[in-house]
Amino acid sequence: MREKEGKNKPLVLFSMVFSFLLLFVFGLGEGWTKNSFCLECHKDPTLKREDERGRTISLYVNEGEFKNSAHGKLSCSDCHIHIKDDTHAEGGKKKADKRVNCGSCHKEAEKEYLQGLHSKMIMKGTERAAYCHECHGKHDILPSKNPKSKTHKSNIDQTCNRCHSDIEFVREHALGSIIPGEEFKKSVHGRSGEVTCISCHGSHNLRSLIDPKSTIFRSNIPQTCGGCHPEITQQFVESIHGILAARGRSDAPTCTTCHGIHGIKAKVDPDSPVHERRIALTTCPQCHAAERISKEYRITTTPVKSYYESFHGLSYKGGDTYSANCASCHGIHDIRPSTDPKSSVHPGNLQKTCGNCHPGASENFAKGKIHAIPSPKAEEIGDRIVGWVKIIYIVLIVVVIGGMVFFNFTDWLRKTIERRPK
Ligand code: HEC
Ligand code: HEC
Ligand code: HEC
Ligand code: HEC
Ligand code: HEC
Ligand code: HEC
Ligand code: HEC
Ligand code: HEC
Ligand code: HEC
Ligand code: HEC
Ligand code: HEC
Repeated sequence: MREKEGKNKPLVLFSMVFSFLLLFVFGLGEGWTKNSFCLECHKDPTLKREDERGRTISLYVNEGEFKNSAHGKLSCSDCHIHIKDDTHAEGGKKKADKRVNCGSCHKEAEKEYLQGLHSKMIMKGTERAAYCHECHGKHDILPSKNPKSKTHKSNIDQTCNRCHSDIEFVREHALGSIIPGEEFKKSVHGRSGEVTCISCHGSHNLRSLIDPKSTIFRSNIPQTCGGCHPEITQQFVESIHGILAARGRSDAPTCTTCHGIHGIKAKVDPDSPVHERRIALTTCPQCHAAERISKEYRITTTPVKSYYESFHGLSYKGGDTYSANCASCHGIHDIRPSTDPKSSVHPGNLQKTCGNCHPGASENFAKGKIHAIPSPKAEEIGDRIVGWVKIIYIVLIVVVIGGMVFFNFTDWLRKTIERRPK
């Protein structure tokens, strides 16, 4: 045994020198030996510490995950710039400054991020506002093209909802009742796999809904949806509603007034707020039957009332799906006042509009006032006659029934007086 060892001495020496050289070139040079220095302690899954509030924090770093991450080639100290040795391990006196500055290498992303709300909330000291690693991870960061990445489009909703669908979190941050989690997953967007939270909110520079630069600021919503629904948005911005919405008026409908926000459904879904059975019952009447809105904008609530009394309205309420609802005559995203020659209810276009369902409708057929309620003051002679007849009818009813009551009353009075003992 001893002899053998002695014989191989030069070989052992050589291999030791060689492996040191290898380590130097491929190890130290790449920083990986330094990482192995840190990992000597931090690859231990049981390494923990307690924070100020007494919660245990794991100090375990998964070596394999880190090596496979986008930063696998970096040295630990490239991010943990204040930690270059193990003096921090004692804790207490020499507390580790664990702040990691991603921006030193990702200037573009940081610049965008600093304009957004999440960074502003951190500066205000909000606990749990999202810093880079809350969305990207710490030691397992992958390019967002990678399906395993926390920022891959199939995982983004989970990444955001870790905070935004945590009920306690939502309450603490006074975020109203908006909990997009399940609602979004079931929506037509959530199910498409194409649309994620960042399609509407952006990722780094996302802003609050009260910030005029925000994609979800009221008057910017049509443009936000328009990124994917360009034709509808084009029609909408030229419509009477769109013009009013662009002025930021809260009474003007915008995309989300009619469709909802995170739970948008297909129009054929019976639960959709714009399903054809709802259009003439809630979608349009929510405003056009509201006294406050009609007073403020000097539009009348007559159309809704008269529609319900019309043949169209009566059969619509009865469940006839072929009958006309508000949108059949007015359009949906391109609604214009009847005085606008481009309006589907402009006198010049009515023959065509009615003709969609009444083939061969004549000019005369389309002539009558659609929303007129018969009254002596109505514009059309026919409505005036019907209006007068209605009034005469009411007067007759009052006179006949009133006369009868009067006759019975005096008769009863006479009889009571006669029966009184003298
Ligand atoms: C001798 C073992 C050991 C070595 C080597 C070591 N650490 Fe630590 N590390 C610890 C211990 C123990 C703590 C917890 C200290 C405390 O209680 O505050 C810690 C804490 C940390 C923390 C702070 C975690 C937190 O949330 O407070 C970071 C970051 C860290 N180490 C990174 C590194 C890096 C980078 C290296 C290599 C340069 C390294 N460590 C080398 C044992 C070690
Ligand atoms: C891409 C930058 C980056 C690199 C490289 C990196 N870390 Fe970290 N590390 C982070 C971030 C970000 C945090 C979370 C900081 C915080 O909580 O404020 C973190 C936290 C930690 C913690 C605290 C425990 C935890 O999970 O929060 C330890 C320990 C740690 N790192 C050790 C290491 C070691 C060891 C290496 C090298 C193998 C390393 N880190 C490499 C970014 C990095
Ligand atoms: C020391 C410089 C440095 C630091 C600090 C750093 N990164 Fe990186 N990061 C890189 C390099 C280098 C790459 C790899 C780029 C490549 O492969 O083209 C990378 C890749 C990425 C990627 C993948 C996207 C891509 O372009 O491939 C993301 C996401 C990322 N880093 C986020 C972060 C986050 C979040 C932090 C902070 C926790 C951070 N980085 C800290 C240097 C750094
Ligand atoms: C609210 C979540 C969130 C925060 C916070 C966040 N990011 Fe991102 N980041 C994303 C998403 C989602 C993407 C991918 C989609 C995209 O391109 O917008 C992304 C993309 C990136 C990319 C492009 C590379 C890639 O993988 O596509 C880099 C680099 C990056 N982020 C770095 C950072 C840095 C640095 C910070 C902190 C200053 C940060 N991010 C903060 C969500 C976030
Ligand atoms: C189709 C576009 C769209 C998508 C996709 C979307 N949002 Fe929204 N989100 C909006 C709009 C528009 C508002 C503004 C609502 C309002 O005006 O009240 C909003 C509001 C919010 C708010 C603010 C709530 C408040 O009261 O301040 C949060 C938080 C939010 N969304 C998170 C998310 C998350 C998380 C996801 C992904 C699961 C997501 N959103 C997906 C359009 C979208
Ligand atoms: C670590 C927790 C966290 C994560 C992850 C996170 N956020 Fe936030 N987010 C916050 C906090 C905190 C606020 C600020 C709430 C407040 O105003 O107090 C906020 C605010 C918002 C707002 C603005 C709400 C308003 O005031 O109108 C939107 C929109 C938003 N986040 C969307 C997202 C999206 C989209 C993602 C994913 C890409 C995401 N958040 C990921 C914590 C988080
Ligand atoms: C006044 C209410 C209202 C407003 C405002 C509104 N919509 Fe609609 N939208 C509807 C109704 C009603 C339907 C269903 C039409 C039907 O049954 O054919 C619809 C249908 C749709 C469809 C499905 C179209 C199809 O043919 O499959 C999309 C997409 C859509 N709207 C997007 C938008 C966008 C984007 C905006 C904002 C620019 C918007 N909507 C504004 C009421 C509205
Ligand atoms: C990133 C692209 C994108 C954005 C932004 C977007 N959508 Fe969509 N939207 C889609 C896709 C894709 C579908 C089709 C899903 C399917 O049919 O499976 C869809 C479907 C719809 C539908 C259902 C159409 C139908 O079949 O009846 C409505 C309504 C709708 N979107 C409204 C909106 C509104 C309102 C906004 C803005 C708040 C918006 N969308 C923003 C991509 C987008
Ligand atoms: C959020 C409330 C709201 C909803 C929902 C709404 N509207 Fe309006 N609409 C208005 C307001 C406000 C005006 C007045 C605009 C102006 O005068 O600039 C208006 C104007 C109109 C006009 C023109 C009136 C005139 O006198 O010039 C027509 C026609 C109209 N809306 C039809 C509809 C139809 C059809 C629907 C359903 C598909 C609908 N609206 C849904 C609020 C609404
Ligand atoms: C059969 C077609 C038809 C239906 C259904 C219909 N309208 Fe009209 N609407 C018209 C025509 C035509 C006018 C033009 C003026 C008139 O005849 O009173 C008009 C006028 C209006 C006006 C007055 C503004 C203007 O442009 O002159 C409003 C507001 C209105 N309609 C809303 C509605 C609402 C809300 C519904 C559903 C409850 C509805 N309409 C259903 C055809 C229709
Ligand atoms: C979406 C299809 C549709 C449109 C558009 C439409 N109608 Fe009708 N209309 C019907 C249906 C269906 C009935 C039968 C209703 C019933 O059961 O009484 C009807 C009935 C009528 C009647 C009762 C007499 C008859 O022919 O049964 C008149 C009058 C009428 N419509 C006029 C109009 C005028 C004027 C317009 C244009 C301003 C118009 N309609 C637009 C579907 C439509």
